[in-house]
Amino acid sequence: MFRTIIYDQQVSALKPVKGRGIMTIGIVYYSRTGNTKAVAQLLAEKLKQKNAAVDLIEIEAVKQPGFFGAGRAAMKQIELPIKNPDVDLGKYSTLVVGTPTWGGCCSPFIKTFFSSAKNIKGKKTSLFVTGSGAPDPQGKPRQMMQQDLGTLGMDLSPHFLGLKMKNGKIIQGESQVDPFVQSILVK
Ligand SMILES: Cc1cc2nc3c(=O)[nH]c(=O)nc-3n(C[C@H](O)[C@H](O)[C@H](O)COP(=O)(O)O)c2cc1C
Repeated sequence: MFRTIIYDQQVSALKPVKGRGIMTIGIVYYSRTGNTKAVAQLLAEKLKQKNAAVDLIEIEAVKQPGFFGAGRAAMKQIELPIKNPDVDLGKYSTLVVGTPTWGGCCSPFIKTFFSSAKNIKGKKTSLFVTGSGAPDPQGKPRQMMQQDLGTLGMDLSPHFLGLKMKNGKIIQGESQVDPFVQSILVK
């Protein structure tokens, strides 16, 4: 089993993942209806099978937006408040960041979370996107994350995972999962 860490402002000093000379990977994701969470969990399982130490870090909305509020916030890039700002990601050698597609955009919580996250500069980071359609590898959700996280100095991997999802299941793109996992493990 892997741990899901629910951060809050009271928890500022997390103990480092047990060091066994292995990769320590933080998978940061936002998920409104569980699809992106299911992918984050699948990636965590696969990375753990390859002996990586993995934490799942769920970005928690103060108030989950409804369908229209979500689409509006994404398209207008309105930052919605989160319960877990200021998270220190310094103990991870690598990050994986995932978002659903909203109105052709990345969910706004990614930008909100990373704007206040600590120790992210230069961090090797791989991106994944879920959608009810198949996310275009060159599409806007990825581009938006590249823009926002690149501006913050994160070192973005050229590898990308885009999955078409329904009810927590992968509908299209499953064959991309293992190569994506492999790309995360390359130091
Ligand atoms: C407001 C809103 C807008 C959406 N817009 C798109 C879209 O433009 N393209 C797409 O493929 N899926 C779109 N979806 C579907 C979600 O991206 C998809 O179901 C995703 O996997 C949900 O992830 P989650 O369950 O982790 O929240 C939209 C969903 C919502 C709520």
